[in-house]
Amino acid sequence: MSDHIITERQGAVHIIRFNRADKKNALTRAMYASLAAALKESDENDEIAVSVFLGQPESFTSGNDIADFMAVATGAEKGMEVIDFLRALISSEKPMIAGVDGPAVGIGTTMLFHCDQVFASPRAVFATPFVDLGVVPEGASSLLAPRTMGYQAAFRLLALAERFGPQEANAAGFVTEITSNDDLESRALQAAEVIASKPREAMKLARKLLRGDRAEVTERMENEGRIFAERLVSDEARNAFISFMNRSKPA
Ligand code: COA
Repeated sequence: MSDHIITERQGAVHIIRFNRADKKNALTRAMYASLAAALKESDENDEIAVSVFLGQPESFTSGNDIADFMAVATGAEKGMEVIDFLRALISSEKPMIAGVDGPAVGIGTTMLFHCDQVFASPRAVFATPFVDLGVVPEGASSLLAPRTMGYQAAFRLLALAERFGPQEANAAGFVTEITSNDDLESRALQAAEVIASKPREAMKLARKLLRGDRAEVTERMENEGRIFAERLVSDEARNAFISFMNRSKPA
């Protein structure tokens, strides 16, 4: 388990928390491995009814660690852990809730399309700068986002990298409810308790019906992953990563 992911049980609620505040909770390979393991635990442990993803104050997650992207782009590493996490999100048999405060960038936003309920504070910002980074949408978001919000809004989010605030995300259908800053976590946990109070097998089956064909979602995620991997070694991507890494350093 990476120290940068903290898991905690509150009764039947499994809290999975991003814990790398100094890097705005940027996700490393070790963190993805821990996230995949935490979701496996949620599915396999009969005492768990629901998972809740939380971050730190004013920071949900800044998405994939750009230094890790660079390491994969230069061929130094393979970086398959993210795929394990995405597979776990797609195949998860138990409900997942997210509480978003501050930026939710890249996979921080695309993972929300797999969640059953998303709570957001007024400080939440949703952004997916994939194209600006020379890469493409991932996590089956190219399939799920247009279904949730319509093609043109999905294009603004996923291709143009327009930032969505909580109101816009709520109107687009991927945020369930906007809370106050202070109430975000308690509201997400309260919603988790409601889920935990329901008959477990019926919830699993209802959710399975609602989520539809998993094979289609997995196939899209893997197709996106192939294109993403090709793009990671492109000049467009390399230049974007170098520019991010150097942005605060003096010339
Ligand atoms: N990967 C690696 N490091 C990251 C990171 C990421 N995705 N996001 C933030 N960090 C690091 C910054 O480099 C900085 O490190 P430093 O203190 O050693 O210089 C630290 O986290 C704080 O980030 P900073 O940019 O100063 O915070 P901010 O509040 O001004 O902005 C964000 C927050 C999330 C808007 C901004 O960091 C950002 O845009 N990050 C990149 C997001 C991204 O492109 N992710 C990939 C998506 S596919």
